[in-house]
Amino acid sequence: VSSGAGNLFSAPELARVRRPVDQASMLPPRAFHDPAVLDFEQRAWFGRDWLCVGREEDAAQAGEYFLASVAGESIIVIRGHDDRLRAFYNVCRHRGSQIETRERGRLVRFQCPYHAWTYDLAGQLQRASHTDALVDFEPSHNGLVAARLSTWLGFVFVSLDRLAEPVEDLLAGLANQIARYPVASLRRARRIDYEVGANWKVIAENYSECYHCPGVHPQLNRLTPYDRGRNFESDGPWAGGWMELVDDADTMSVDGHRHGRPPLPGLQDEDLRRITYLVVWPNLLLSLHPDYVMTHQVWPLAPDRSRVVCEWLFDPAVMAQPEFDPGDAVSFWDQTNRQDWRVCELQQAGTRSAAYTPGRYSLMEDMVHAFDLMCADRYAGDGQVTRFAPRHDKWRTTPRRHARSAAPEGRGAAVEHVP
Ligand code: FES
Ligand SMILES: [Fe+2]
Repeated sequence: VSSGAGNLFSAPELARVRRPVDQASMLPPRAFHDPAVLDFEQRAWFGRDWLCVGREEDAAQAGEYFLASVAGESIIVIRGHDDRLRAFYNVCRHRGSQIETRERGRLVRFQCPYHAWTYDLAGQLQRASHTDALVDFEPSHNGLVAARLSTWLGFVFVSLDRLAEPVEDLLAGLANQIARYPVASLRRARRIDYEVGANWKVIAENYSECYHCPGVHPQLNRLTPYDRGRNFESDGPWAGGWMELVDDADTMSVDGHRHGRPPLPGLQDEDLRRITYLVVWPNLLLSLHPDYVMTHQVWPLAPDRSRVVCEWLFDPAVMAQPEFDPGDAVSFWDQTNRQDWRVCELQQAGTRSAAYTPGRYSLMEDMVHAFDLMCADRYAGDGQVTRFAPRHDKWRTTPRRHARSAAPEGRGAAVEHVP
């Protein structure tokens, strides 16, 4: 039985994505517009995979909770009196009322607003008046329904699938790759929420390449030229790589400087020259800087609309200093984010056209292909994981407009150098 997207895409459409990157075509445009595709993704991906919904610090004390919206389900993440984080469906076991509507807060117990059933912080039913004489009614069988919760590097992950492979196993290779970064101990200094008029995959694709940086992000491209860096081999549901800072910059900020912030503890010299960008399937974008970490959570609202939660995490010891000010990093990325949203919205609009057929990947877009492969493999649902190998032959090469393998270089009229 296929777990794929059934007849939403034809086999040839998916096969064209699953070719090697220099032969592949992009996702079918319906992937960005068809409500049936988003329904499938919500059910099969967001409704089953591990999703980052926040940070452990969002529920730091016993009783602190926050709500998350996962695949149409309202989920409560709460820390118990035993200091454990748990996730529950926000649904009363009596007549099914939602229990909490405030986004975040602190509770001693859950109390349903309808008939006042109460549950303790571990989800056990505590009090349900006038139920003593019921036949076959076990309070212990009427607790809040739990969802799975795991923490990884200080992030809170939730999965609605009881059988999902442990998140720390899925992301072990990534944890290894970024082991020197003390991500778990960082704390949030700023958060900005955006609403973007583009499909959530358009935003993940945009994050996965810097082909657009010279034109779209002149400020960013001055700090990390778009063609300096490397991408990682990946053994799991993540993809990414790093970019190299120019000599007179030492982080991503309005002027390329750290404004007195020391590097994160534990980093080595080479880490201080790099920005590492990672897509953690499906919707966490993780950007590691010498002195801070930035994250984006990308949540689909509609085929053509997404909510993006962008957060900036710093070393708490640095945040405690009176002169601490993350403004230079936050405004740099806020500007960059908005530059990105604009082109994402343009792509969303353009791919609606009947004239658009799936385009080809430039050699700078191997990580876009890596993300699209994660989608295409899952649409196909045939159990095959398409291997991808990052391209290392693209850096610092002369851009060319057309290169046909049949035309020998230097002789072929097909090779056209761009100044
Ligand atoms: S629906 Fe919750 S107590 Fe009745
Ligand atoms: Fe960008």
